[in-house]
Parts: sequence; C-alpha cells; structure tokens
Amino acid sequence: MKLPLFPVPSLAALLAIACLPSCGGDGASGATLSPANKLFIAELCASCHGFERQGSWMGPPLANLGQHWERHNLAEFIRDPSKYTGKDERIRKLSKQFRTQMAPNKRLSEADRLILADWLLGDSPPDGPGTK
Ligand code: HEC
Repeated sequence: MKLPLFPVPSLAALLAIACLPSCGGDGASGATLSPANKLFIAELCASCHGFERQGSWMGPPLANLGQHWERHNLAEFIRDPSKYTGKDERIRKLSKQFRTQMAPNKRLSEADRLILADWLLGDSPPDGPGTK
C-alpha cells in the first residue's frame, strides 16, 4: 500500500522554497538558474529528487536517463507517471523502493514538460544551488 502523496512532500516543498533565497552557498540567487532548473524547483521535483537530482528517501536520483527515455516519453511520464508505473517493469521496480509515488503534473504545459525532459536528459550537470 502506498501512502498518499501529501502532506509529507508538501512539507519538504515548503522547506525547499524557504531555502531558495539563502541556499546558494556562494550567494547565487534564483536568477542564475536555467529555466529548466527553476521549473524543477518550482514544480517540487527537487523536493523528492533533490536539488542536484541526487535523489532522496522520497524519490530516485535522476541520472543517465537517456538510457531509458526519449524526450516525448519523458515529458508524458512527468504528466502522468501512472501510465508507466503500470506497464514499464523497471519503473514498477523503482516505484516499489519508495513509499511515495511520483506525483502527476497536469498543470505544466507540454512545452515546459519538454524543457524539463531535455534538461533531465542532458549530459551537463544540473546548475542548481550548491553546484558551481
Ligand atoms: C512526491 C515525490 C515526487 C515528486 C514531487 C516528483 N517525483 Fe519524480 N519520482 C518519484 C518517485 C517515487 C519515482 C519512482 C517511480 C514512482 O514511484 O512513480 C519517480 C520517478 C521519476 C523519474 C523516472 C526515473 C527513472 O529512473 O527513469 C523521473 C524522470 C522523474 N521522477 C522526474 C520528476 C520530475 C521532472 C518531477 C517534477 C515535475 C518529479 N519527478 C516530481 C517521486 C517524485
């Protein structure tokens, strides 16, 4: 049985947002983040996957995704992860390791989901707080 998504992640999200102005380490502000990285934080992805996509107890690390995803599928996964948890064996196993499930995001536009997907598939390291 999975726990409901909230309120635990929303608490983490609040903490993440509270952290924004001050967690740059070198004084970097949100203005230095790429649009994709801003979406990653604003849409609460970082609260489960970590600011540097390193993963947390609420979500897996997001690295080497190009081995498994093509950008349109990844954008669709962000919109409705349950489609894939049902039929993709790897995602199903991944899902079992976490007490939460990836939340569907039906609010983002297709264009924004593709921006996120491209960023997640890119080789360059995330430019989030804490990275140079
Ligand atoms: C509530 C916590 C949570 C939030 C918020 C969340 N995720 Fe996830 N995510 C997960 C979990 C848990 C999984 C593992 C699959 C599952 O259980 O659904 C996952 C899986 C993924 C995967 C697949 C990883 C792989 O190895 O293929 C990607 C990509 C991903 N998330 C991206 C995102 C993005 C982008 C956002 C923001 C729009 C986001 N996630 C928001 C918890 C979360």
